[in-house]
Amino acid sequence: MESKVTSNGSASISVGGKEVTLPVLKGSVGPDVVDIRKLYGETDVFTFDPGFTSTASCESQITYIDGDKGILLYRGYPIEQLAEHSSFLEVCYLLLNGELPTAAELEQFTHTITHHTMVHEQFDRFFQGFRRDAHPMAIMVSAVGALSAFYHDSTNVHDLQQREISAHRMIAKVPTIAARAFKYAIGQPFVYPKNDLGYAENFLQMCFSVPAEDYKVNPILAKAMDRIFILHADHEQNASTSTVRLAGSSGANPFACIAAGVACLWGPSHGGANEEALNMLRSIGHVDNIPEFVQGVKDRKYKLMGFGHRVYKNYDPRAKVMQQTAHEVLDELGKHDDPLLKVALELERIALSDDYFISRKLYPNVDFYSGITLNAMGFPSEMFTVLFALARTVGWIAQWKEMIEDPAQKIGRPRQIYTGSPSRDFVPVDKRG
Ligand code: ACO
Repeated sequence: MESKVTSNGSASISVGGKEVTLPVLKGSVGPDVVDIRKLYGETDVFTFDPGFTSTASCESQITYIDGDKGILLYRGYPIEQLAEHSSFLEVCYLLLNGELPTAAELEQFTHTITHHTMVHEQFDRFFQGFRRDAHPMAIMVSAVGALSAFYHDSTNVHDLQQREISAHRMIAKVPTIAARAFKYAIGQPFVYPKNDLGYAENFLQMCFSVPAEDYKVNPILAKAMDRIFILHADHEQNASTSTVRLAGSSGANPFACIAAGVACLWGPSHGGANEEALNMLRSIGHVDNIPEFVQGVKDRKYKLMGFGHRVYKNYDPRAKVMQQTAHEVLDELGKHDDPLLKVALELERIALSDDYFISRKLYPNVDFYSGITLNAMGFPSEMFTVLFALARTVGWIAQWKEMIEDPAQKIGRPRQIYTGSPSRDFVPVDKRG
């Protein structure tokens, strides 16, 4: 990656009586950053920023978020436009390569991904080792990491062609693995990919078809699935993406790095929130119970899941598209009177007019409506984070590739403020206590 950072003056700070001048850098959009790379060398002090709320960890040209305005761009294109006019595979190409493909490039890319969707037959034996009630994310973490044991010919991170092949393999095979994790849990036979189907269609048929009957993919649901994948494809330096970059910074192979991202995504504050959001809507159950529930949030007994975001201090633009998708899916399935949708709409209305949420700039995030939608499509809540991981795989790989190709890349190694014991002498066990 060629750096596009420009200079925008300098900033001075005084530390321990010493004045230090630090460069201020500018990206194409967004706030300037103070370049503190030389701070420790020149002053003997570090910066302290747990949670990285004020720290940029890398230069990136993939995704831009303006959290105050509620803007999300993939390679400069607004998410709303991509969700309306593009397709997930086109978005994958865009994220990986930086530009929208020509018709010929898209055809070639689609062909490549479609023809990498099968996994090695021996790979399927991994699944049998899991308990039947294993969480599908536990299976995902293991199975994605296990790809590195099968595809040795694409694990050399210094080889451009191998990087590309591993990227294509993961985009193609993660849906197959995700569908197998689902089928395994419900005790149905694995369904093989079909090359005459589109990416989302193929995933739906691998999840919902059974050998005993013909299965025809509902085009409205396939379109909704594809759009959900687009909405989740990338989100700049979030926790799981930073995990992928950190894992990759040591030179670990891409399959292992993406497995690390899947593990991080599993947490309820990140990708696990859609599962939690649906559980929350179910536990509220009826609009009449909302005031009491909201009071519990304000009393800090629990959080309003699907609300709030580290970066968005405005309506998450993905949540708007997701709300519309929820309506389309529920209408198509004749579930427009879904009680959970009613609870969600009313909860959102009340929260957006309540000072607790307004003053903290807490708005719905993408997870608020995704659970209702995916549930209506037939996915159990344990699969929600799996679907998120499937879609985010391309973002993780694009970010991983960018990092490997960045000449400024170093192994990630944060520092700490140590507050433990100073040096002390070992005490033999018979002299302790
Ligand atoms: N419900 C109630 N209060 C909340 C919520 C919420 N969902 N989110 C934040 N707050 C409150 C905090 O209690 C805090 O209040 P205080 O200042 O009075 O102490 C204030 O808002 C700021 O919150 P922080 O925790 O500092 O915000 P942070 O940026 O660290 O957290 C996070 C962001 C983790 C997403 C948080 O909003 C949250 O837990 N939300 C619910 C989980 C969720 O929906 N996660 C999905 C994120 S999107 C994604 O991963 C795709």
